[in-house]
Amino acid sequence: MVQISEVKDVQSRESRTAAHTHIKGLGLDEHGIAKRVEGGFVGQADAREACGIIVDLIKSKKMSGKAILLAGAPGTGKTALALAISQELGPKVPFCPIVGSELFSAEIKKTSVLMENFRRAIGLRIKETKEVYEGEVIELTPEEAENPLGGYGKTISHVIVGLKTAKGTKNLRLDPSIYESIQKERISVGDVIYIEANTGAVKRVGRSDAYATEFDLEAEEYVPLPKGEVHKKKEIVQDVTLHDLDVANARPQGGQDVLSMMGQLLKPRKTEITDKLRSEVNKVVSKYIDQGVAELVPGVLFIDEVNMLDIECFTYLNRALESSIAPIVVLASNRGMTSIRGTDDETKAPHGCPRDLIDRLLIVKTLPYNQEEIKTIINKRASLEGLSVTQEALDSLSVHGINVSLRYALQLLAPAGILSKTAGRTEVTNEDVQECEVLFLDSRRSIKILEESKGYL
Ligand SMILES: Nc1ncnc2c1ncn2[C@@H]1O[C@H](COP(=O)(O)OP(=O)(O)O)[C@@H](O)[C@H]1O
Ligand SMILES: [Mg+2]
Repeated sequence: MVQISEVKDVQSRESRTAAHTHIKGLGLDEHGIAKRVEGGFVGQADAREACGIIVDLIKSKKMSGKAILLAGAPGTGKTALALAISQELGPKVPFCPIVGSELFSAEIKKTSVLMENFRRAIGLRIKETKEVYEGEVIELTPEEAENPLGGYGKTISHVIVGLKTAKGTKNLRLDPSIYESIQKERISVGDVIYIEANTGAVKRVGRSDAYATEFDLEAEEYVPLPKGEVHKKKEIVQDVTLHDLDVANARPQGGQDVLSMMGQLLKPRKTEITDKLRSEVNKVVSKYIDQGVAELVPGVLFIDEVNMLDIECFTYLNRALESSIAPIVVLASNRGMTSIRGTDDETKAPHGCPRDLIDRLLIVKTLPYNQEEIKTIINKRASLEGLSVTQEALDSLSVHGINVSLRYALQLLAPAGILSKTAGRTEVTNEDVQECEVLFLDSRRSIKILEESKGYL
């Protein structure tokens, strides 16, 4: 049986899309009604309200076995909505975004990649009450003794650690192996630490805030002096994903103690995660859940461009949705009737998804924006990028937004800003926009040029 130990917080994945940094949430009021401009979102009220209901369903755990499809033209905010859903759910709920085509790699089976991402989207909150010694370190003295094996030098026979809390102090006499952990965690006098009584694992909580004014430039976390006795029961909460557990248990391990486990996490090595390992991890996890030690936190798996999946992946998806520990799956597609990848017949299916999957989907439609909405979105992006744009330039950008796409209009913003800066102006003017329009083709003009040039570039 695998042993599940503490795992360090691993950032499941950084949110990659800087294009959406202005999106801060769905921007709904307490009745679930979309405010016109809120949370970085502009317009698209129906889709936002629908997503608000979905967030409520997820929170009340009534979404299992179902998935959501965001359908709409490119640039209508599907990815932004998925991101907003995850923001509404909060940072403790895992969110794993992938693009349909990511599944196809030469090295790993596509269903295995899909499985991995499913497990990235399933969180586990482990709560344990442990017997600990906690306090601010006031003394840290290793005591040496003659080497019992003879030979030269001295060995550390034990270490004296003095811990202080608001209630009192206690001196502990600890095993030398714990001294090694203390050194690895770089603990010094003035730190707040706890030592697990059973395992001897040492954890540094932060620096005692009594030392807070020592230096100004420090990336330190200051924590208050712990209350209560030094020796007590403490509830320790950790959020991990099933994938974290798979990875932590797949690596060849130096030792069974927590620290060597942590050390493994710091030097990542690719090891195959087998189905056998996953089911072993599942067994331990469900035991933890039965015992009330852990709680399952289903997160969100977002699959963009779902029409890129093939029939094999869809079959897998259908089955995975039925599992009792499925995350919430959000799909996005900008296709109408398309043939499904991997099928021989040319029958078209809506959004390139098989019928049996479509049946389980809650479909949310995103609509194109009007000029006024596009203008507001561009304005928001401009202020985020630190650009001021004249009214005239805004108008012509929003015309591009209508005629070409919102994305094209947003993309012109940054180069236009550079042009105006080079010209020594503080504002982006209409001339800058027009110049950019000449310099950078949109997709339609580019296609037209390609067609006219008959195969030559
Ligand atoms: N309603 C909206 N309010 C604010 N910004 C939006 C809105 N809709 C889309 N955007 C922004 O427009 C750009 C394109 O949207 P995106 O979500 O990528 O479209 P899609 O995924 O539907 O192709 C992104 O930068 C996104 O943040
Ligand atoms: Mg998108």
